[in-house]
Amino acid sequence: MRRALTLISLFLISSLCLAQENPPQAAVVTAHPLATQAGMEILEQGGNAFDAAVAVTAALAVVEPTGSGLGGGGFWLIHDAQQNRAWMIDGREMAPAKAHRNMYLDAQGEVIPNLSMNGPLAAGIPGTPAAMEYLASQYGKLPLSQSLSAAIRYAEQGFNIDKPYQRMANFRLKALQDSSAAAAIFLENNQPPGDHFILKQPDLANTLKAIAIQGAKGFYQGDVAKRLIHGVQQAGGIWTHHDLENYQLIVREPIRSQYHNITLTSAALPSSGGIVLSTMLNILEGYPLNSMDDAQRTHLIVEAMRRAYRDRAEYLGDGDFIEVPQQLLTSKQYAAGLRAAIHPHQATPSKLLPGAIEGYEKGRDTTHFSIIDKQGNRVSATMSINYPFGSGFVPPGTGVLLNDEMDDFSSKPGTPNAYGLVGAEANAIEPGKRPLSSMTPSFLETADRVAILGTPGGSRIITMLLLATLEFAENSTVDAWVNRPRFHHQYLPDQIQYEPGALSNELVNALQTRGHKMKRLDHQYGGMQAILWDKKLNRVTAASDPRGIGTAQVQ
Ligand code: GLY
Repeated sequence: MRRALTLISLFLISSLCLAQENPPQAAVVTAHPLATQAGMEILEQGGNAFDAAVAVTAALAVVEPTGSGLGGGGFWLIHDAQQNRAWMIDGREMAPAKAHRNMYLDAQGEVIPNLSMNGPLAAGIPGTPAAMEYLASQYGKLPLSQSLSAAIRYAEQGFNIDKPYQRMANFRLKALQDSSAAAAIFLENNQPPGDHFILKQPDLANTLKAIAIQGAKGFYQGDVAKRLIHGVQQAGGIWTHHDLENYQLIVREPIRSQYHNITLTSAALPSSGGIVLSTMLNILEGYPLNSMDDAQRTHLIVEAMRRAYRDRAEYLGDGDFIEVPQQLLTSKQYAAGLRAAIHPHQATPSKLLPGAIEGYEKGRDTTHFSIIDKQGNRVSATMSINYPFGSGFVPPGTGVLLNDEMDDFSSKPGTPNAYGLVGAEANAIEPGKRPLSSMTPSFLETADRVAILGTPGGSRIITMLLLATLEFAENSTVDAWVNRPRFHHQYLPDQIQYEPGALSNELVNALQTRGHKMKRLDHQYGGMQAILWDKKLNRVTAASDPRGIGTAQVQ
């Protein structure tokens, strides 16, 4: 009896020790130095990781209008240290009530080019303002007025634009020129701005102030809402006040799975990220990847990508609207079946997998940030307005750039979207439905290491997470995860896309010999923002992808 009591006390003491385990430093890593600074300021003012997440979300809406904003949505994966509990805050856009499955098709049933990409008809009902209020009110310690103050300051005082901004303004010039309010804010004399352009956004500052004072109501109701609806309807869009008032933020259980000793916590539907990542890891768990040469390992990784993306196209969509065989797709048994069909030395042509439809490719957008505070609270958030500068449309007087997330639906089953992703019935448009996403904010955990990570990059997001997870499994540094050269396969088009320099000539030849089609991209992709808390070394490290201009701060 005494021995049992001693064991119980030892167990309680050790659980208590685990529960009290705190990181020695806090860290904020984002895609823009001013957003990182905004998050750090809030931590220094006594805010927690959730307050910092609100500050960073709002700051990125101002300083990185190419990637995310109040007119968009995202997934905020949070870990509440006190409750030792993770949730996914789903602030994904919803299709307006007047949306319908054929809204982007002409009389012949063909997709009308660009209708789901540019202008107000391309925009879903935004979720970001609702997510900010939820984070602040349910998990934060500071008032919204304090957490939003840096963003308001940046919007009012302006900031010097950067090279990625200029490149994307050039890329999306026509869409921005088509909206006089967007052109007045984001262009200089209707052209991409020069190096010394200071971007000031007084209307956006006022919209942020409305949210600071009234919470989400400051966006979904009242003056801002009136301007949003008026601007959208005047320009041919279908939003109504009812759509804004009925926006539903949803708190979801994240996807969890196990890869060897690593627990993955990741984005649930309507993101495909967690499911696709789990399928790929489950397939790969059955191979001794570490003892293989590069060609064999890359072949098997690609075959896992191909199969998981096929299932994405076939089965995935908003789980509140359709039946998704989620348990099956994330199970070890299902992965074992997929693994059994992989030829060890030959590529499987995608058209031999059931349901194949030919497609094309594209892709660059979105943003990610990661935060940890000294209490061990964590946020991994990926947010988007979809394409760079979203739909390019700003309802006058709001400063809010609307998303073009409706393009993430399959406008016509089998026809690829801007990222070359094909979809089936599961991702068809319906009023109130959320478009299928690839955003994959994630946590990786072992007994002594915790990673907080994610990236933008359209359809390539999930394979970037896979490659980073494999780096984490090899115990490499956080810099190695974000620096790592990248390759990608998404089932269709049937090719391995790779960054310049990512694969040696020898490796390319070896993969071609196995029957893989190779596509060397002319650019790098992604913008991973990652944090590693190493409990054994009692150290927090963080890294921002060198492909972008982001910064990491650890304090
Ligand atoms: N709009 C990019 C994504 O959600 O995957």
